[in-house]
Amino acid sequence: MKKPGTKIPTARLISFISGIRKDPQKYFYKLFKEKGDLVRLPYPKKTYVISHPLLAKEFLIRANRELGKKDIINNRMRNVFGNGIITSEGEVWLRNRKTLSGSFHQSSIEKYELNIKSQIGLRIKEWESAPENGTMLILQHEMKRLALSIMASNIIGTDLSNQLDPIILMLEKGARILSHSLPVKFTFGPVSKSEKQLAEILNQIELAGKRIIAGKRKNYQADGLDMFSLFFRHEKETGEIIPDGLLLDEFKSLLIAGYFTTSNALSWTFIELAKNPEWMQKISHEIDSEKKHHTDSTGKNQRLSFMNAFIHESLRTSTPVWSAWYSVDADIQANGHKFSRGSNVMVDLFNIHHHPEFFKSPEQFDPGRFLNGETGKISEAFMPFGHGPRKCLGVNLAMSIITSTVEMVLSQFDVVVSDAHKIDSTIMVTRSPKGPVKFILRKRTNPA
Ligand code: HEM
Repeated sequence: MKKPGTKIPTARLISFISGIRKDPQKYFYKLFKEKGDLVRLPYPKKTYVISHPLLAKEFLIRANRELGKKDIINNRMRNVFGNGIITSEGEVWLRNRKTLSGSFHQSSIEKYELNIKSQIGLRIKEWESAPENGTMLILQHEMKRLALSIMASNIIGTDLSNQLDPIILMLEKGARILSHSLPVKFTFGPVSKSEKQLAEILNQIELAGKRIIAGKRKNYQADGLDMFSLFFRHEKETGEIIPDGLLLDEFKSLLIAGYFTTSNALSWTFIELAKNPEWMQKISHEIDSEKKHHTDSTGKNQRLSFMNAFIHESLRTSTPVWSAWYSVDADIQANGHKFSRGSNVMVDLFNIHHHPEFFKSPEQFDPGRFLNGETGKISEAFMPFGHGPRKCLGVNLAMSIITSTVEMVLSQFDVVVSDAHKIDSTIMVTRSPKGPVKFILRKRTNPA
C-alpha cells in the first residue's frame, strides 16, 4: 500500500470521462492496475477510489459516525428511491436498521427456509420442463423471477407470483435508465424522456407499495417477520408513527437491494458451474453424500465445503455490488491517509477482490483458495457484502437463497450454459452478465 504522506495520483480527465461512460467498473479496474490502491478522481470536489482491503476496512468502520451518504451516487439514489435504509443516515437509519434486522436475523431466515425451498422447487420444475433442443431459458430472467418471488413472499410479505414478469420488465427498464444516466441531475432544462419514464415506473411501484401497505395495516399480524409487520410492531411498542411515505421508501430500497444483487449472484454462479464441470461434479457428489448419510443439518456447512468454497469464489470474482459510496462528514485518518470533510469516497469492492497481495492469480477462478474457509489474507480482503456498520443487512438471506438453489439444482441436474466462456459483464445497477445468457438443466445420469 502507498505510504501515508506520499502524493495520491489523480486519474486523467479524458480517460475518466470516456471510461465511466463505456463501463465504469472496467475503467476503475484499469485505473487500479495503473495507479494503485488510492487514486483521486478529476471531479471538482475531492473524490477518491480505495482499492486496498485494509484501507477500505479502516475507512468503512467509521460509517454513520464520520461517514455519511451525501455523496454524488447516493444523492442520485435518494432522488429516485427516497430516504430508505440504503441512503438514510443518523437516527433515521439506525431506527430502520434495528427495526428491519428482525426480518434478516439467522433465526428468521431459518423460518423462511421452507418457503424459500418451495419457491426454488417451483422454478426448478419450470426449468426442468424446458426442452433441450427447443428454446433455451434466459438465465438472468429466470434468476430474477426466483429472487423476486422469494423477496416478495418473505421480506415484503406478499405473493407476487402472478405478476413477476411485468414487474421484472418495469425494474429492468428503470435499471437501464438509472445505469445510463448521469449521477447528478440538473434541476434546470427540460426533463428528458427517459427521466419521465423513470418517474412513471417509480409511480407504478409506489402504487403497488401503497396497496400492500394498506392491506398489511388492515390485517396486522403481531408475529409477522416481513418488513411491514416489523414497522407496525415498532409503532405499537413505541407509539412512534412511521409515515406511509417512509414505508414506501423502505419498500423500494429493500426491493432494489435484494433483487438485483441476489439474482446476479445466482446467474454468475450458474455460469461458473457450467465453465467448471469438474467442480460441478465434485459438488454434486458432495450433495449426494450429504443426502445419503445425514438427515440432520447440524454441521452441513462444513460437510458441503466444495459447494461453499465455489459460491465464495463466485461472489469474489463477480462482486455483484462492485462499489460502495460514502461522503466524508468530518476530517478523518484511515491507515495514515487523510480524508477531509466534504470529500467523496468510492470503495471499489471488485478491485479489492482482485488485489494481488491478498489473492494469488486474482483473475483465475479457483474455489480451492476458499477450501479452508476464509483464512489468512483472504479473510482480510473478502467482502462481497461490504464491511462495518453498513454491511449488507440481507447477507443471511442471500446466502440461504444461493446455497439452497445450488444444492437443489445440482442434486438432480447438470447446468448447461451456452457460450459460457464468452460471457462478459455489464453494469446494470449491479455487475451483471451481459446480454441474454441461455441455459438449460440436464438430468444427471447418476444422482443419489
Ligand atoms: C448476493 C447478494 C447481495 C450482495 C452481494 C449484497 C451486497 C451488499 C453490499 C456490498 C452492501 C454495502 C453497501 C455500502 O457499504 O454502501 C449492501 C447493503 C445492503 N444490502 Fe445487500 N447484498 C446482497 C443481497 C441483499 C439482500 C437479499 C437484501 C435484502 C433485502 C439486501 C439488503 C441490503 C441492505 C438493506 C443494505 C443497506 C444496509 C445499510 O446501509 O445499513 N442485500 N449489500
